[in-house]
Amino acid sequence: MKHRPRRTSSIGGSNTQLVPWIALGFSGGLLLGYLFLGTIEAVVSSRLHTGDNTIAQQAAENTVVEVEKREEVQKLSAQQSSHAQAVRSSGSQFPDKGTEIHTLCTSNGSPYLNFQTRIMHGTYKQVQALPGGERLVGFTRILHRTKPDVLVDEVPTWRADPLTPQCDEWCEFPVSDRPNAVAQWMAAAENHPDMIKAPWLLMIETDYVWLKPPLAPPAEDTRAPSWAFPFGYIVPTDPGITGVMRKMFPEDRGPISRVPGSGPAPVMLRVHEWAKVIPDWERLTAHIEADKESKEKLGWVREMYAFSVAVALQNVKLELLLPPKSPLISQPPSDTVPGAASMLHYTWGTMFLESNDSKTWEFDKRTFTDKSIETETPNIPMPPPFQPRWHLHNKLPVTPELHKTLVMMLTHMNDAIDLLPKPSSRVS
Ligand SMILES: *[C@@H]1O[C@H](CO)[C@@H](O)[C@H](O)[C@H]1NC(C)=O
Repeated sequence: MKHRPRRTSSIGGSNTQLVPWIALGFSGGLLLGYLFLGTIEAVVSSRLHTGDNTIAQQAAENTVVEVEKREEVQKLSAQQSSHAQAVRSSGSQFPDKGTEIHTLCTSNGSPYLNFQTRIMHGTYKQVQALPGGERLVGFTRILHRTKPDVLVDEVPTWRADPLTPQCDEWCEFPVSDRPNAVAQWMAAAENHPDMIKAPWLLMIETDYVWLKPPLAPPAEDTRAPSWAFPFGYIVPTDPGITGVMRKMFPEDRGPISRVPGSGPAPVMLRVHEWAKVIPDWERLTAHIEADKESKEKLGWVREMYAFSVAVALQNVKLELLLPPKSPLISQPPSDTVPGAASMLHYTWGTMFLESNDSKTWEFDKRTFTDKSIETETPNIPMPPPFQPRWHLHNKLPVTPELHKTLVMMLTHMNDAIDLLPKPSSRVS
């Protein structure tokens, strides 16, 4: 059976589809910069208005929102509703001081994601051993699957019951199970607070490669904004989606520009911020899945929109920095250097092409889907030494910086692969 994996980050399932996205990554920089400034402006102006006399007002507003939300949540299934309520009652039993980080990812346990997860977790462990890595005090893979998968003994895993059991094997959009799975995890943590090891929860994707420990986040008990990433293809203010955006973010909540162009990963929020955002993220994801128009218009990144709207509804303030300033990720080949990023995201494939367009080298995660690779994870072919004549499939030249960044990423990946337990040494 041919597996067709789809994740929020899988923009474009083939190289032909990929080209416009790559082009967007490069040429959309100006537009993105503009949108990004708009968001920052919204963040800054809303922070300016957080004077003492508006705090009571905000608290009153929040109470109204809580009541509205409670009514909305009652419309969800009994299972979802009980999770959401457990999340909302979040108390102060969780770590609420300092700069330590608990990392989360989600997965349906497919070979495609397990291949990525093994490598990502391998690079995480290497970075954890570096100076600054002591801040990385927790790691949990939230597995939404009806039963454990092959990685449960290798990668710290918490299993959630999936909303869509057929995603164990194949389903169109496994990502729609993610918010509910995270809500289940949060609800379980309410009963077992030691499940959460740090005041900051960092949600990442499986197709990340750790390069270095993250910069220290702000102290939890400050009002500094939390961290997210501005994705060029998440554009809440796009006139073509105003209608579906307004179904989620009504006019009385203000301009749609208050919704960040983010998504749930990479995102580093305080535990209590996650607790506020998760119920809306879950509710809005369910809403989109049930609404044909929203589903069509928001497409493969619809659950990212659900998260972004949830963040805006809950007034969580985000700092959205693009590479090379982002402390979170850089995305080669769209970004040529890691900059401040602690991780690289290989969502886009990279091809080195000769002047006659013949392919000299390629790395594309979409080619790693075979069942065998989740246990016998192969090394990834390194690019040949740099040649100035190469170009990418959007015609931009392969620069020495980009070549160096890719060599660094693949070296980290292959080093991690070399250290993975071999199938023969596996217990199960
Ligand atoms: C394209 O160029 C490469 C390298 O210069 C060469 O090896 C290859 O044979 C060429 N392919 C075609 C179809 O001309």
